[in-house]
Amino acid sequence: MEETAERPAHRIVIDTDPGQDDAVAILLALASPEIEVLGITTVAGNVPLALTSANARKVCELAGRRDIPVFAGCDRPLARDLVTAEHVHGRTGLDGTDLPAPAMPLQPAHAVDFLIKTLRAEPAGSVTLVPIGPLTNIAAALARAPDIATRIGRIVLMGGAYFQVGNVTPAAEFNIHVDPEAAAAVFACGAPITVVPLDVTHKALVTPPRLESFRAMGTPVGAAIAAWTGFFERFDKAKYGAPGAPLHDPCTIAWLLAPELFSGREINVEIETEGRFTTGMTVADWWRVTDRPANALFLGDVDADALFTMMTARLATLGA
Ligand code: RIB
Ligand code: CA
Repeated sequence: MEETAERPAHRIVIDTDPGQDDAVAILLALASPEIEVLGITTVAGNVPLALTSANARKVCELAGRRDIPVFAGCDRPLARDLVTAEHVHGRTGLDGTDLPAPAMPLQPAHAVDFLIKTLRAEPAGSVTLVPIGPLTNIAAALARAPDIATRIGRIVLMGGAYFQVGNVTPAAEFNIHVDPEAAAAVFACGAPITVVPLDVTHKALVTPPRLESFRAMGTPVGAAIAAWTGFFERFDKAKYGAPGAPLHDPCTIAWLLAPELFSGREINVEIETEGRFTTGMTVADWWRVTDRPANALFLGDVDADALFTMMTARLATLGA
């Protein structure tokens, strides 16, 4: 979609479970004039819904953007008990900082109603959904209003894995693991999908020099990002021996801003929902060994140095 003086190139709804990396994704979107954030919808995931809904507003206020409407969504998966990730993100979901309780209110509408209303009201194909948590809200909206599937411009989601396999089970990445039925519905809906899997995000690591770049911004945003990534890196350092935290969710926004930094394949991706050991697996036909039709652009690589240069430059503009 061409950027015009009146309208940014990307008009998006971020569906999120903040989460420190979600917070950086939201900040990156708000720091980018090519992106108009129509709204933020929250979902239960890293931490329960009440906390993700508070955290999303805390991040908007950190960015000086109390104008962004935030809508609370589903507080549990479609058909399973909620699994959270306090062991990664801390009790609050934004451990590493102590941001003030949000002053801005939640919007009265439910997130699913906002998604349906927005997709029906805006020109078909003009809205991009950016889910960076479990896909419960998106699937619930599709179930209640199947007509929106053809109105979605693109879904750019963080989730899944192929070569990196699972981060919460041997087979499943967290966002898919929490709500596999929702993920299956999203991948079957027919809308164009870009998948940002662990195969990419495990290459987007906040190494010590990159963390120092955040801190050297000298702004409250830079300090918060340094504190968040300095906190949640523990999990990946212990599990993978990684040199820093993977910035999972910001890679979705970065792809919108600079797709040339990434590479991937248009392939078939199915979601396992009944596997004894593999439930939540993104069964990505990377080598095209089946005749299942391609339903997603599945990213596999990123120029990490260019990614962090771009992100740091953008984020430094917030609160400067
Ligand atoms: O597996 C990484 C994903 O799970 C990210 O979206 C992170 O925020 C957590 O939700
Ligand atoms: Ca997330």
